[in-house]
Amino acid sequence: MNETVQNDKPLEPQTEKFVKRSIFQRIFGICATKLPQNANCWKIVGEEIEIDLSLAEELSNSGGGIRIEGKNLPVRILIIKGDDGVYYAFQNRCTHGGRRLDPVSGGGTVQCCSMGRSTFDYSGRLLAGSAKDNIKTFPVRVEEGKLRIAFG
Ligand code: FES
Repeated sequence: MNETVQNDKPLEPQTEKFVKRSIFQRIFGICATKLPQNANCWKIVGEEIEIDLSLAEELSNSGGGIRIEGKNLPVRILIIKGDDGVYYAFQNRCTHGGRRLDPVSGGGTVQCCSMGRSTFDYSGRLLAGSAKDNIKTFPVRVEEGKLRIAFG
């Protein structure tokens, strides 16, 4: 059964909100979002990532996120629980210079951790910053406590 929550209230992304990062972190592109505390919370099943939500504490609250990378995954992916309580997945590679992204809690956006601070809405549409292109997103669904992201 698909338990994906539908957003009945349109979210208004705010480009004036930023993730707090130091100049050092921005120059070197050090993102705020961590790898999952429990590395066993996710695995690859065919062309999908399966995340056991009971093991992914970081995704329990709106504004939270985790980086999914490694384990021979062909792309880096940022998974967030948006301000609207819905899960979203983005290719975690800014279209400007390839840096990672972070969710902007309360902003309804994700944002590059680099100096250019390219900002995208939850559909991946570019709103602000140095990038010229939208960011790729991946379909997400929730089934029986598992988050499934089709990356293929
Ligand atoms: S790498 Fe993202 S704005 Fe430059």
